Amino acid sequence: MPYPRSPPSRRRLQWPTLLSLAPLLAALWLPTASADKSAADYYVHALPGAPDPLLKMYAGHVEVSPEHHGNMFFWFYKNRHIANRQRTIIWLNGGPGCSSMDGAMMEIGPYRVKEDGTLRLNEGSWDEFANVLFVDNPVGTGFSYVDGDSYVHELDDMAKQMVTFLEEWFAIFPEYAHDDLYIAGESYAGQHIPYIASAILDRNALNSAHAWNLSGLLIGNGWISGPDQYPAYLQFAYEAGLITPGTDADRQIQDQQKTCFADLDKGGKDHVDTTSCEAILQDILRTSTKQLGGKCVNMYDVRLDDSYPSCGMNWPPDLAQVTPYLRRADVISALHINADKKTGWEECNGQVSNAFRAYHSAPSVTLLPAILEKVPITLFSGDKDLICNHIGTENLLSTLHWNGATGMETSPGVWAPKRDWTFEGEPAGQYQTARNLTYIRFYNSSHMVPFDYPRRTRDMLDRFMGVDIASIGGTPADSRIDGEKAHPETSVGGHQTNSTLAQQAEEDKVSAAKWAAYQRSGEVALVVMILLVGVWGFVLYRARRRRAGYASVFGADPYDGSGNGRGNSVGGGGLGLDGEPASSMRRSKYDRDVEAARPYGDEEAELEDLSGKQQHRRPRELDGDEHHFGLADEEEDGEDGEDVGGGRRANGHAV
Ligand SMILES: *[C@@H]1O[C@H](CO)[C@@H](O)[C@H](O)[C@H]1NC(C)=O
Ligand SMILES: *[C@@H]1O[C@H](CO)[C@@H](O)[C@H](O)[C@H]1NC(C)=O
Ligand SMILES: *[C@@H]1O[C@H](CO)[C@@H](O)[C@H](O)[C@H]1NC(C)=O
Ligand SMILES: *[C@@H]1O[C@H](CO)[C@@H](O)[C@H](O)[C@H]1NC(C)=O
Repeated sequence: MPYPRSPPSRRRLQWPTLLSLAPLLAALWLPTASADKSAADYYVHALPGAPDPLLKMYAGHVEVSPEHHGNMFFWFYKNRHIANRQRTIIWLNGGPGCSSMDGAMMEIGPYRVKEDGTLRLNEGSWDEFANVLFVDNPVGTGFSYVDGDSYVHELDDMAKQMVTFLEEWFAIFPEYAHDDLYIAGESYAGQHIPYIASAILDRNALNSAHAWNLSGLLIGNGWISGPDQYPAYLQFAYEAGLITPGTDADRQIQDQQKTCFADLDKGGKDHVDTTSCEAILQDILRTSTKQLGGKCVNMYDVRLDDSYPSCGMNWPPDLAQVTPYLRRADVISALHINADKKTGWEECNGQVSNAFRAYHSAPSVTLLPAILEKVPITLFSGDKDLICNHIGTENLLSTLHWNGATGMETSPGVWAPKRDWTFEGEPAGQYQTARNLTYIRFYNSSHMVPFDYPRRTRDMLDRFMGVDIASIGGTPADSRIDGEKAHPETSVGGHQTNSTLAQQAEEDKVSAAKWAAYQRSGEVALVVMILLVGVWGFVLYRARRRRAGYASVFGADPYDGSGNGRGNSVGGGGLGLDGEPASSMRRSKYDRDVEAARPYGDEEAELEDLSGKQQHRRPRELDGDEHHFGLADEEEDGEDGEDVGGGRRANGHAV
């Protein structure tokens, strides 16, 4: 495992072998299921364990690269209320290769999974006044899938794929194509989001008649600029008391940092990640074991510790419920997961991460100035995160030049004040705004701010989007910046239950979709067909036609023309998944061996391609012989007791 690469939102040590080959094999046998779907095919009729009434949502796959069976998974929640404008937010988690189901089920989504496997509502969810579209990006991540040799390698390819996805998605859901569009996410999505935003702006320039109204970006604890963020590891470690200046450990890490800075100067600054700099983080984690008696600090929340060498991989605790929930056959069926997707959901996919080198991609920080000329950006940071810590984000803001000045300057020589934010009487953080860029430091918060403080993040979101609750009539939240409430006021918590005209209109739209779904399900079609047949039969009888006429009628498939028989899913028949999941999710040694075969060969080929060029930049080539990456080795072996991870490393990477 390329343990420290660019920081993913959840850099879990993946089971690298599990995901990619099965879809490949499946694709050889199964017809592609995504052609010509309509919104009704994606309507989620029931969600196991969800409280009543069920929220309005759609989920399923959209094909983005038929030649490689590339399918992206989305889960779309309709807004519960429309405030002053129609808004849609795309949410992306990091990795690369970590599923946006993290965001859906542990952060900003409306449901959280309880220990008993049922769902409860999240009082700070972002779907109150905006539609929220969670996308497993890029292909291969989460519920998305693709042939094992066709993962994405570079950020611009990822962005192109996302634009393709959105073209397809808006074709299926045209009523949202004119919404104000926001893109939000976390961690490595700090690379994804600016690239996607730039690709959308480019697309809009060529297609101004059908421009998407990109209205804002929000990035939480983003990995945006290595040269600004790597130096912050040691700075933050001092501040958090993880490293004591003057100790042996400190001297050793400073040496590592010198190597890192030299590598950045030698060209590393033009890349998204730099191996020798990632090693600084590893050294800090390893040092923390000495203070914590064999445990290490949780790299996503330094207030917590974790077993070594997980150092946060076991966090957050909700994962223990979320993973089994997303592997349940009834959940898979409810979310319209294609039969082509044979393997169970995993939070992060190691093969996607390994393939996503971004070796030829400039760090996303270089895109920010052009974006900020047109689109406001909010960067927010939970201040207890180490891996993408707030000091690094503040470093990058202080050196970035955009909209005519450098750093958080509002006019020459005047710095944007850090304004105190209180939420329901508690100090919540600090706000700073300059020239279309807002920076928010969240107090007492981890890498996954919405996990810790969902309601505060909703308040942030509603302020950023300018939600006006006047038309809804909710109770304003007591949120104050420098003692002042927002204008207009925002509201979070206690979901609004009062209906508005706008909401009524939405409900009508949804029930139309529902009706359409049932129609497509074939149930209605069957009834109609029987009636028609009856009438026709009567006519035929009267006309004394031969009974052969009936045969041809009954010979027709009543599902034809009503969704390719996909209506099955409504009746609970599923898409052929019901019989599969138990075996496809079992991580038998046999499965691994089979699935391991193909992709490693591919990786080797790719490694050879690149081996002439600056190998030292690429951690995955070093992780076999670099002591810094020993952490990952131990973790993989430790988590399962089988040496699959080690075998993979031996196969795919230089040892
Ligand atoms: C796009 O969204 C912004 C922000 O809400 C809004 O001010 C603007 O009028 C919208 N433009 C269009 C063409 O809808
Ligand atoms: C900020 O963004 C808006 C579009 O939302 C743009 O019109 C404006 O020029 C930008 N401000 C600056 C200072 O560039
Ligand atoms: C949260 O952080 C603020 C500012 O650092 C501090 O005043 C407050 O006591 C903290 N609250 C908790 C519960 O830790
Ligand atoms: C709607 O709002 C009114 C006035 O705020 C309140 O009395 C009533 O209970 C609300 N209805 C629902 C269904 O919440």
